[in-house]
Amino acid sequence: MQELIEFAIVAHRSPAYEQACLLRDEMLRKPLGLSLFDEDLDAESGFIHIAARDHSGTLQAYLQLKPVDAKVIKMQQVAVTAHLQGQGIGRALVEFAEAHARSAGYTEIILHARGEVMSFYEALGYRKEGDSFLEVTIPHFKQSKLL
Ligand SMILES: CC(C)(COP(=O)(O)OP(=O)(O)OC[C@H]1O[C@@H](n2cnc3c(N)ncnc32)[C@H](O)[C@@H]1OP(=O)(O)O)[C@@H](O)C(=O)NCCC(=O)NCCS
Repeated sequence: MQELIEFAIVAHRSPAYEQACLLRDEMLRKPLGLSLFDEDLDAESGFIHIAARDHSGTLQAYLQLKPVDAKVIKMQQVAVTAHLQGQGIGRALVEFAEAHARSAGYTEIILHARGEVMSFYEALGYRKEGDSFLEVTIPHFKQSKLL
């Protein structure tokens, strides 16, 4: 399946971005009783948006990179559509993002991982820093990786 997926940087408010918002709402907000569309999505205009689309152009996975400073970038909103999870798409998406961040001159990626997916990021070389904290109502851990 993974070889049928194409990864690309897409523009804020592009059709792929808007599809990604629906996926993000479905995967990351509705299960918590929240709505992504209550958030300030205009604030994401300066972020890097990475979409994974299948051969028909349908968005199947997404993540965004938020610059923190000249060297550090934060990865967030990582989501793979439910029926394609466990097939390597999440790993390939993160690796694409890492390669892009590295080529843009960033030397470190940080993220806030939900407790239940920390091992996904650990498998990709991210290390836990510090104690858990609440974000969007659930426990998260800071993780980071030097590029
Ligand atoms: C977490 C998520 C992005 C992983 O994507 P995926 O395509 O299913 O992951 P992959 O198939 O690429 O798996 C890569 C590795 O992580 C592991 N992994 C995948 N999902 C995992 C999970 N939920 N918990 C623990 N490990 C996981 C896999 O076993 C695999 O390890 P391996 O390469 O050593 O075999 C996806 O399950 C998802 O969208 N979850 C719901 C949204 C979410 O929680 N996002 C993260 C918010 S912090």
